[in-house]
Amino acid sequence: MANLKCNHTRKSFKEYAQILDENLENEEVFVFPPSSAFLEGRFKFTQGAQNFYPAKNGSFTGEIGQDMLDEFSIKTVLIGHSERRAIGENEEQLKAKFEYAKKAGFKIIYCIGESEEIFEKGKTKEFLKSQLENIDLNYDNLIIAYEPIWAIGTGKTASIEIIEDILNYISKFSKSSLLYGGSVNEKNISEISKIKNCSGVLIGTASWDAKAFLKLMNVAKEN
Ligand code: PGA
Repeated sequence: MANLKCNHTRKSFKEYAQILDENLENEEVFVFPPSSAFLEGRFKFTQGAQNFYPAKNGSFTGEIGQDMLDEFSIKTVLIGHSERRAIGENEEQLKAKFEYAKKAGFKIIYCIGESEEIFEKGKTKEFLKSQLENIDLNYDNLIIAYEPIWAIGTGKTASIEIIEDILNYISKFSKSSLLYGGSVNEKNISEISKIKNCSGVLIGTASWDAKAFLKLMNVAKEN
């Protein structure tokens, strides 16, 4: 999965989508562009939303509701990304988003992850457990992404042992597919994808260039 964050215009995303479309075979690929760059049409990857407001439409200045997602046939959403939590999205809002998306039947990629401080204190597991309390872990269209905040965009990936341990732990609560995210790159993707309970990766920085993203997929496939 590629989280393009606040990168790409509609023009550059069109080129990005075309490069993926020309090169993808049967990989299961999701791309989350900025909402201003959503594209109409069918692609070999699934287009998802980085953010949405839990309403069909209405007086919610600056927000994107379900009607706007429907226009682009978007049925996959990210919820709980640490960069959204950092700008003030709280558990109550995340719960409302989760419930709305579940009712709409969306595929939900629910992101959880601890800060460096919690990690250093050895309190990661209990923290992650608390982040999962508000959501229905039995929702069958749920994917959980473990993204330690200290590993996002920092070049500091969690070790294979940590990822394995945490994904095993999360798998005790939910049968959902589990992803890892946080500085996934060409060097670590194949080891990470081999981890038991790791069904895929959520990639930020290393996915912003379509060719680099394709290369990562090839590296993961080769090993
Ligand atoms: P990164 O971002 O790959 O740049 O660390 C991952 C993410 O935020 O999903």
